[in-house]
Amino acid sequence: MKVITVVGTRPNFIKTSPLHRAIEAHNAAQGRNARIEHLVIHTGQHYDWNMSDDFFETLGLPKPAYSLGIGSGAHGYQVGKALMDIEPILEKERPDWVVVVGDVNASIASALAAKKLLLKVAHVEAGLRSHDWTMPEEINRILTDCLSDLLLTTSDFANKNLAAEGTNPALVETVGNIMIDTLEQHLEEARQADIENIYRVRRLNNQASMNQFPPEFVLLTLHRPFNVDRNEVLREIVAAIGIIADEFPVFFPVHPRTMGMLKRNGLADGLLARPSIILLEPLGYKETLAFNLRAKVLITDSGGLQEEATVLGTPCLILRKTTERPETLRENGGTAVLLGQGTENLLKEFHAAKGLPRIPHKPPYWDGQTAARVVQALLRRRAEPPRSTAAT
Ligand code: UD1
Repeated sequence: MKVITVVGTRPNFIKTSPLHRAIEAHNAAQGRNARIEHLVIHTGQHYDWNMSDDFFETLGLPKPAYSLGIGSGAHGYQVGKALMDIEPILEKERPDWVVVVGDVNASIASALAAKKLLLKVAHVEAGLRSHDWTMPEEINRILTDCLSDLLLTTSDFANKNLAAEGTNPALVETVGNIMIDTLEQHLEEARQADIENIYRVRRLNNQASMNQFPPEFVLLTLHRPFNVDRNEVLREIVAAIGIIADEFPVFFPVHPRTMGMLKRNGLADGLLARPSIILLEPLGYKETLAFNLRAKVLITDSGGLQEEATVLGTPCLILRKTTERPETLRENGGTAVLLGQGTENLLKEFHAAKGLPRIPHKPPYWDGQTAARVVQALLRRRAEPPRSTAAT
């Protein structure tokens, strides 16, 4: 069986690593005849060393069979160029499955290219819905699911979303959360990690801002366009974080999109000069986990980090109005709270969250075995015909 996985961004690399390991484990156990050939296409949406190569190296991903080097650009460019470049590769390779992970521009481009060539698509992390059509990721999720022949879901919440859209249940399999496979695999190393050294290596602030590494701190990440692309919103968030930083040091690994906006809006220098807000380069996977494990509170607009916080027990404040990952919310047993629009709730919820104990929570199937279930599903359904128009 031949499987092609298409990746483009940092979260894709994290989700593809356990899949590759599970395929290797299958190959080692089954021998030559039942071998799965696994090829990776990297669209190159994320291309900086610490957004891409670092992840390939530390997570043990195979060198991409095809690197498209598409890079930055408007959504139309990113999706259109990926579609054009992926099509001839899929035509030549004719895999049994094209696996797409998550909700990024590479996911929709590869699903579309594959279906037009009558190839079968499996979507890992299917069925997530924020119900917020202003998010480019929501459009990618819905369209990718519409095209996929196999919808591999993280939980019952996702299954219900697909059922509500009239998806044929025969196409859906609950496999769990593949990101948690990666977490389980690297947790011990993250526990042992020298976090002070990570800080020294990755810090962007010039001055030696701390005499002693703080025993308690807040972790902040921010990259969603609705938080960082508008000057007034970004300014308001930075001001609220400034108040929190009077109480606890805030470690802030800065996404390139966010750094660009901070610079453009004249906010970067002020932050860099402030000792209690510690700007860091984008961190590696294990480094991020090491900070998340020790943070008093995580403030984020990332989907993956909020899932990891739930499994690790880190109280988490989500700088968003909606989430496509309701398993992570406190009312569903998780550790996260949605803050809604603006920063009004941020300080109030921060004061409530800072005293909370860590209560780790693992939803069903978030057990580190998801990739093995994905491989089993791909093998079992290999001979099934593609999704037909009769049964949507
Ligand atoms: C993308 C995903 C988002 C995911 C996020 C994780 C889509 C629609 N969005 O958003 O779902 O949560 O990745 O990080 O696919 N840049 C660099 N170096 C890099 C990568 C990007 O400088 O290695 C810059 C780009 O030039 C651009 C900005 O960062 O200005 C944003 O990149 P973009 O490709 O638009 O996606 P993300 O915002 O990262």
